Amino acid sequence: MRVNFTVNGRPQEADDVWEGESLLYVLRERLGLPGSKNACEQGECGSCTVRLDGVPVCSCLVAAGQVEGREVVTVEGLADFAKQRAEHSGACGTGACGSADGKTGTSLQEAHGWSARPADGVSDSQTGEGTELSPIQQAFIDAGAVQCGFCTPGLLVAADEMLERNPSPSDEDIREALSGNLCRCTGYEKILDAVRLAAARQERQGLQEGVA
Ligand code: FES
Ligand code: FES
Repeated sequence: MRVNFTVNGRPQEADDVWEGESLLYVLRERLGLPGSKNACEQGECGSCTVRLDGVPVCSCLVAAGQVEGREVVTVEGLADFAKQRAEHSGACGTGACGSADGKTGTSLQEAHGWSARPADGVSDSQTGEGTELSPIQQAFIDAGAVQCGFCTPGLLVAADEMLERNPSPSDEDIREALSGNLCRCTGYEKILDAVRLAAARQERQGLQEGVA
């Protein structure tokens, strides 16, 4: 079967998809987007987390046929998604509209070329200036929350979605939001630090914008 859906703001189609094929397989193997990781393939580890119509899901558990006509955001599109949310936050109130206008987004080519390094090679890890990362991505780097990085894409997508819903999360809120994401390396404390850091920066920026 053919599946038409939107990935990171761009229409995509996958041909000859067989019935049991997962969204994760389509993203990684057919569309060449390896950011979403395949660890357990059983919905246990969260490393394959993407947003499907805004909701975080384990893409290994979603049948590709279920995404027909729907919107997917992967870690490759996260920076662009966060940027658009920030730009739209005045217009839609919550900023949760993301790429709803369908005019912008991360092209497949851009997503393939995604790099944690800034495009111009000049970065300031304190402010994120000169980088093209989303706030949560930068916070993970600054807090040292990335080791092998296998869990990181899923954590980033889940944490970003939580901060969209809940800009001032308690530690309990963060733990609950990330409870489906397993990490074997960092021991979680640095991951929590990263999300706290992103929340604090988001709040500070909101205050500054409120004053300006
Ligand atoms: S690979 Fe999907 S939850 Fe582990
Ligand atoms: S699994 Fe290695 S950084 Fe989380």
